[in-house]
Amino acid sequence: MLYAIPCERKRMAIREYTWANLRMERNMGKIEGIKIQNYGVLKDIVLGKTRTNQRARALGNLVAVIGQSGNGKSTLADAFGFIADCLEVGVEAACDANNRGGFERLITQGAAEPILFELYYRESSKTRPITYELEIDLDKTGRPYVKRERLRQRVEKHGWPRTFMYLQEGAGYAFEGNDDGGQDDDGSITGKKVEVQLSDIRRLGIVTLGAMKQYDRIEKFLNFLKSWYLCYFSPDAARRLQNANALSPISVICSQPSVSPPDSRFPQRRNASVSTFAAPFACTT
Ligand SMILES: Nc1ncnc2c1ncn2[C@@H]1O[C@H](COP(=O)(O)OP(=O)(O)OP(=O)(O)O)[C@@H](O)[C@H]1O
Ligand SMILES: [Mg+2]
Repeated sequence: MLYAIPCERKRMAIREYTWANLRMERNMGKIEGIKIQNYGVLKDIVLGKTRTNQRARALGNLVAVIGQSGNGKSTLADAFGFIADCLEVGVEAACDANNRGGFERLITQGAAEPILFELYYRESSKTRPITYELEIDLDKTGRPYVKRERLRQRVEKHGWPRTFMYLQEGAGYAFEGNDDGGQDDDGSITGKKVEVQLSDIRRLGIVTLGAMKQYDRIEKFLNFLKSWYLCYFSPDAARRLQNANALSPISVICSQPSVSPPDSRFPQRRNASVSTFAAPFACTT
């Protein structure tokens, strides 16, 4: 009996914490899946649920990527850093940033197709998912540029996603507003379609258009990408993590593990290092 009150309090605190977490989760932007092609060792990978992989389970709030050395864990973590750098400094500078060594070193050796990222994103549990596709290639002068960018969202009572931004080599269209506007694959249109021509093909269209008031949906998606917190793990970075999470619920955290020596009892076992992604992405590699 003496312990009944504290135990009950503890239970209530846990319940409250769980509900608070659930509430936060429902209102939190989240990447449910990602597809990457021709980025370093990642020739063609899909994680979680994507537009063309609807039966797969969406990524959880904590994802651990485990694998033997050289299978692309750090490259996967860096893909998020690369996208963040593309937003900030454009694709050409992003290829050179953070010791990436330029486009030729970045693209999968022998790949004939561009680097491709596809993010499957949901703003909250009540909103319909958005797919963002980004292709980066070399232009005729041999400089990296944004070859193609596309945003799609599935529309209520309408099975297929509609494209609400499409840019090829800096030219294309976008739909204004925050409603169901978009273009179907068969060319039919709802909402206000605006022709777009970008002056800089090395900057992302979502950055240019997301800065304009009339493209609400693009702006929201851009703000989600900007809210990522990226950190390459170090003991000092670990100390700052609490503050980082307070700043933003969306994190990408990367760390370098200490590689343990092989266990002499099990020589056949290979060392595996770990990547984890949380809230919705944090990773240690
Ligand atoms: N452009 C490229 N095309 C193909 N492979 C590449 C390219 N750039 C790097 N690699 C390969 O990617 C591998 C490194 O991948 P990465 O560092 O992501 O692995 P990892 O899983 O993090 O390994 P570790 O556990 O040792 O940290 C190396 O084998 C390297 O040769
Ligand atoms: Mg690594």
